[in-house]
Amino acid sequence: MPHSGLSLSAEELRAFGYAVVDAIVDRHEHLRELPVASIPSRTRMEALLRTGLPEEPSAPGHVLEEVLGSVFANTTRVDHPRFFAYVPGPGNVVSVMADALVAGFNPFAGSWVAGAGAAEVELVTVDWLRQICGLPPEAGGLFVSGGSMANLTALATARHQLPEETWQDAVIYASDQAHSAVTRGARILGFAPDRVRIVRSDADLRMDMAALRRSITDDREKLLRPFCVVGNAGTTNTGAVDPLDAVADLCEAEELWFHVDGAYGAAAALSDRARPLLAGLGRAHSIALDPHKWLFQPFECSCVIVRRGTLLRETFRAVPSCLKDSDLTVEEVNFRDWGVQLTRGFRALKLWMSLKVFGAAAFRRAIDWGIVLAEHAEARLRSNPQWEIMTPAQIGIVTFRYRDEARTPMEMDALQRAITEALTASGYAMLSTTELRGRVVLRLCTINPRTAKEEIEQTIAILEEEGARCAAATTDTSPTRAQ
Ligand SMILES: Cc1ncc(COP(=O)(O)O)c(C=O)c1O
Repeated sequence: MPHSGLSLSAEELRAFGYAVVDAIVDRHEHLRELPVASIPSRTRMEALLRTGLPEEPSAPGHVLEEVLGSVFANTTRVDHPRFFAYVPGPGNVVSVMADALVAGFNPFAGSWVAGAGAAEVELVTVDWLRQICGLPPEAGGLFVSGGSMANLTALATARHQLPEETWQDAVIYASDQAHSAVTRGARILGFAPDRVRIVRSDADLRMDMAALRRSITDDREKLLRPFCVVGNAGTTNTGAVDPLDAVADLCEAEELWFHVDGAYGAAAALSDRARPLLAGLGRAHSIALDPHKWLFQPFECSCVIVRRGTLLRETFRAVPSCLKDSDLTVEEVNFRDWGVQLTRGFRALKLWMSLKVFGAAAFRRAIDWGIVLAEHAEARLRSNPQWEIMTPAQIGIVTFRYRDEARTPMEMDALQRAITEALTASGYAMLSTTELRGRVVLRLCTINPRTAKEEIEQTIAILEEEGARCAAATTDTSPTRAQ
């Protein structure tokens, strides 16, 4: 007798599935009315969820209730129209259903033999992204979990082009605005800290080309081996885009690999508004691009594309004896040979389905809207001299500070953090701080296409109220000021 303990009857499964779909649809319908942030204490979460291993079964409906009431109710809503912190995750509902389909059919996206349909969709979808980035037809890539993995995969591919005996002298260059994923990736690959050169950024927080040139020359004089420059296509801090064309020229002249971390901003190349800012993107040897950021996909959906696609296979291919009968060598593709994962899920489907259902034009408009919202926020902030714009709106990000001339720099930093916490506590909206040149600034990232201009205005109005309140409170209680 086959064991039926891990199944539901068709009827039970349908009822359960419909309840799950209802929960998802209700959430999307009412998301705007829910608080943005929910950050309970560890003690509270332990009390809610800590149990022993459940030996006996429970009704699926009860477990679903627990998930909704205890898990998701205690989770910050990063797709909320007023979540402006970090990089928001405004997914789309078609991709949600695509993820359900992927889990339901569970294709093995590592080999052609086990998943030809999945592989072909991945090939096609990566090729769409290639075209958006302006890379040549021979470029190729694959979907990975996130920007961290995409950057790591690209750096591993870049290094593989060097003779192995030179690896310990190889040097990577990235600006002081590069994401920590880049330096962490280098560390994981075994680069010593002094083989990752952090190049100063200029007044606009873009790679300082003179400093980059100097660094490369210095390293050559020390008989080190400069081999890769990482350019930013939209820094996480401010949305700044490095002078990609100039970096590409330098890389060409110096025979260096040009990697672009476009995890945040490369998708904006789809928009006519942003494309000119990203000039030079298509000259990269490799690009990291995260559809789970600005192409509105649920996590985890990132893509790494390499200018000469065959290099991925040269870098990652490893065929153990148990996989020899699926090791095709003709036109077919085994994505397990192109990256770190052997068993891999079908991440491409959600992007493929949502692009087909909505059309690329809808994505273009949605990206444009994020850019417009950041510009709108900047204009609104400039209308009140209480705010100081630290960096103007650049592809969906604006940074600013609440002014108070009487405060020390440290007190100013504390004030910005207090304002941020107060906004989060209000439940209305959430933003995050970052540090620019060592000073704390407020930062709005406005890439959610469902955000209304009025919500930006209301968020800034609350920030102004909280700014005045926090400033008064800290002035009253500050012992230095009381004297
Ligand atoms: C520019 C950039 N690079 C890399 C990453 C890391 O991506 P992930 O969080 O998907 O691993 C991020 C994340 O925000 C990013 O903004």
